[in-house]
Amino acid sequence: MDAQNQGYGAVARALHWLMAALMILQWFSGEESKAFGGMSFHFSLGLTLMLLVLIRLGWRVTHPVPALPSSAPAWERTVARLMHLSWYLLMLALPLSGILYRQFRGKTTSWFGLADLPAWLSPDKYWAHQSEDIHKILGTVFLVLLTLHVVAALKHHFIDRDGVLRGMLVRVAVRPAR
Ligand code: HEM
Ligand code: HEM
Repeated sequence: MDAQNQGYGAVARALHWLMAALMILQWFSGEESKAFGGMSFHFSLGLTLMLLVLIRLGWRVTHPVPALPSSAPAWERTVARLMHLSWYLLMLALPLSGILYRQFRGKTTSWFGLADLPAWLSPDKYWAHQSEDIHKILGTVFLVLLTLHVVAALKHHFIDRDGVLRGMLVRVAVRPAR
């Protein structure tokens, strides 16, 4: 048993899978808003995701994460670190650009009809256009990252046969040598 590779804690795992499911749903609600009865659901879930990523970031910086198994080469560790960093930047930038777009258009954004986001910025056509473009580009970057991420997880599971995917799925206990 690799002492370093004991998997992610329960909170990190719960946040990972909850946010993964919600972000995929969020992507569809942006792309196929008609099927969701308009954009209100997209705004509400997007604001929820903004809150969730802040909680997750707080958890991540205060709790250690498992290292890759010692069999993983140095380049793979570097790529994994860059990948995690890119995910966090994207998870922040997606809702942020969406919120900025609404603000620059001078539109009110409601959270499930229960509360409205205050208007922090004055409407600005130029920046509304920029933030809309950025939001749409990031929507595509999301698909690219997700594909690379899933391919990497499957590679670890089926080719390297290390415990990396298992460490994100279940509680990995230290097993006695067989
Ligand atoms: C993780 C969070 C988010 C994801 C993954 C996401 C994803 C997407 C996607 C894929 C689209 C379709 C883009 C296209 O048509 O090419 C979209 C559109 C849009 N999103 Fe988001 N979004 C997120 C958060 C937000 C938030 C928080 C807001 C605003 C409060 C927002 C506002 C919008 C708006 C206004 C559009 C329509 C853009 C247009 O077609 O002009 N999004 N989003
Ligand atoms: C929107 C979807 C997803 C996002 C935003 C996401 C994000 C992340 C992030 C940020 C990490 C780093 C650990 C952390 O801070 O929690 C991570 C790790 C991981 N994710 Fe995902 N993930 C997504 C979907 C998936 C899917 C669908 C799979 C499986 C097929 C998966 C498998 C893993 C595994 C195995 C790890 C551990 C990798 C390591 O320790 O280096 N993720 N993910």
